[in-house]
Amino acid sequence: MSGPIVVIGELPQGVIDRLAQHAEVTQVTDGAALHEAARSGGLQEAEALLVTGQAPIGVDIVQAAPRLRVVSLRAVGYDKVDVDACTRRGIIVCNTPGVLDEAVADLTILLTLGLARRIKAAIGAGQGADAPELGSDVRGRTLGVVGMGRIGRQVARTAHRGFGMPVLYTARRSRQELIGAQVPLDELLQRSDVVSLHVPLSPQTRGLIGRRELSLMKPSAFLVNTARAGLVDFPELEHALLTGGIAGAALDIPVHDYPTAGSRLAGLPQLLLTPHIGSATLETRTAMAEMAAENLLAVLRGGQALSSVNGEG
Ligand code: GLV
Repeated sequence: MSGPIVVIGELPQGVIDRLAQHAEVTQVTDGAALHEAARSGGLQEAEALLVTGQAPIGVDIVQAAPRLRVVSLRAVGYDKVDVDACTRRGIIVCNTPGVLDEAVADLTILLTLGLARRIKAAIGAGQGADAPELGSDVRGRTLGVVGMGRIGRQVARTAHRGFGMPVLYTARRSRQELIGAQVPLDELLQRSDVVSLHVPLSPQTRGLIGRRELSLMKPSAFLVNTARAGLVDFPELEHALLTGGIAGAALDIPVHDYPTAGSRLAGLPQLLLTPHIGSATLETRTAMAEMAAENLLAVLRGGQALSSVNGEG
């Protein structure tokens, strides 16, 4: 008899129904509720977790779920999962790369244009504040893509083909792309008018953009981060924005990662802050939910997930 599938967060009803054909589905609202379930023995029988948000899946969850076989993320990033702990227990961790590239790239471009056109000040002016200073065109301005993976490549394509932006990029391995030129990170920071981050968060990339990196950027440049909050040192970003080190920044990050109350960052007119909505379109979130469900069911049936980070998919 299959153990229950535990869903953390909301999924389209059609996806829940599909999972329910295989096993009993129980739902908890968020990471806090999942941890409560773990503490009270509620995960003893669970064979699968489908995680829709940013709930941390650490050793405590793994230990509280002795029958667990798969953690399926409705996300591409897996920095909140202790993959090593899962691997040691033979638990497959799956993610959903590919289906969200265009939505995240679209938001990246939106934020880039929003910074260039001073959209926050313009909206404020519509509500009685002073008129904003003139913005700038993006055509002909250089885009620096930090991390030329699937999403970075889509951002490069849209910016180059749609908005006439020359592209520089960094990548883990040396490789020639159809668009842009590969350069070291420091050179990208020095030459780009817009620096956009598309790398996963890991011990190697945490704090990737700090004081030194911000000081290499042009005073007229913008920083766009639709990836993970931890890539950027917030106090240093605040300092760079307040002192004219760079011209503006956009952060699309979960609300729980927002700058702390004592920080002036969020209130700055040259800072755009959105609650991690890169993939938040109905079409994209549905495609991600369906892929996460297919990954999970494939593992439970003894097959291969479409995409796993520690298995063969
Ligand atoms: C979103 O941030 C994701 O990892 O899918």
